[in-house]
Amino acid sequence: MNFKLDQQELLAFSKEEKVRKQSPSNIALIKYWGKKGNQIPANPSLSFTLSKSFTETEITYTPKKDDGTVSIHFLFEKTENHKFEHKIKIFLEKLIEYFPFLTKLHLKISSSNSFPHSAGIASSASSMSALALCLCEIEKKHYGTLQLEDDFLRKSSFIARLGSGSAARSVFPYAATWGEFVENPVSSDEYASPLTFDLHPVFRNYRDAILIVSNKAKKVSSTAGHGLMHQHPFAKARFEQAKNHLKLLLNVLKNGDVNTFIEIVENEALTLHALMMSSNPGYILMEPGTLQIIEKIRAYRERPGIKLCFTLDAGPNVHLLYSANDSDNVEKFIQKELLTYCENNLWIKDKIKSV
Ligand code: PMV
Repeated sequence: MNFKLDQQELLAFSKEEKVRKQSPSNIALIKYWGKKGNQIPANPSLSFTLSKSFTETEITYTPKKDDGTVSIHFLFEKTENHKFEHKIKIFLEKLIEYFPFLTKLHLKISSSNSFPHSAGIASSASSMSALALCLCEIEKKHYGTLQLEDDFLRKSSFIARLGSGSAARSVFPYAATWGEFVENPVSSDEYASPLTFDLHPVFRNYRDAILIVSNKAKKVSSTAGHGLMHQHPFAKARFEQAKNHLKLLLNVLKNGDVNTFIEIVENEALTLHALMMSSNPGYILMEPGTLQIIEKIRAYRERPGIKLCFTLDAGPNVHLLYSANDSDNVEKFIQKELLTYCENNLWIKDKIKSV
């Protein structure tokens, strides 16, 4: 797929114009962990798209002399942030071949998150996808390209991926896969794809309670963690396992088999952290509270009827997945038994994003 845009002139405009997009975070059920080259995943992954945890980005742009440079001013939560501004400028410089207008415009970028700053939940998926959607919207408005929804989302996903791998999946509602796998002939390592079937109704109303065990910055970044997979003694077996898990999970998402869902999803979460622990050097991102919450969830599941499960991202926080039908019971359980392990009693009540 060619996402490059010819060096054609921008459709004329002289005044200030604006685009604004929201994009959510996502929670991986099949984890992307390990990459090659320019953000190409070592294995395919799958995530649920969230709805309440999102980034909103607005770009106000005006024409400037094309001197080959990118010119931006960046505000995060209405405040100047030079560190982020620098990162975004470098990222945009890499995108000139896909968006030649980047050297012809001055961009005022303003971004904010729906979730509290203090939550310490990774926001690169929502922020990079929101930025990618805005850039594609500028292209759509002024070049007449990306008019079809599919083309628009595919390029947005491709651009988001270049910023942060997992961000590629955030542009699709419900759930998305990213990475090539045989069961979907149009899947790609370069961008994510929506599911090729309807999600079974039991999963369509799924909730994700994000239990904030710690809001401190990660000891080891995801970039470093992906890097350690290059020398990892279990890498080959892991990448095979992910492909098998994906195949099984796709069937489960079609047929609504919640027990198998729980088995695969928890195994993926624990495998992710086992890979971190068995890297060289090994490291641990879970906290004591993470393990205590996992034990409580597994004990609670012994009760008949309620089928909740956990997953983890690359950090100590626990995502608790459950059906909306069980939300009263599960949320009482969170209040009574799990909040004590959460930093400042913080948890975020999220759910799968529908269209
Ligand atoms: O997109 P990155 O580079 O932040 O990596 C994300 C990795 C995990 O969140 C642990 C898994 C995933 O697939 O989202």
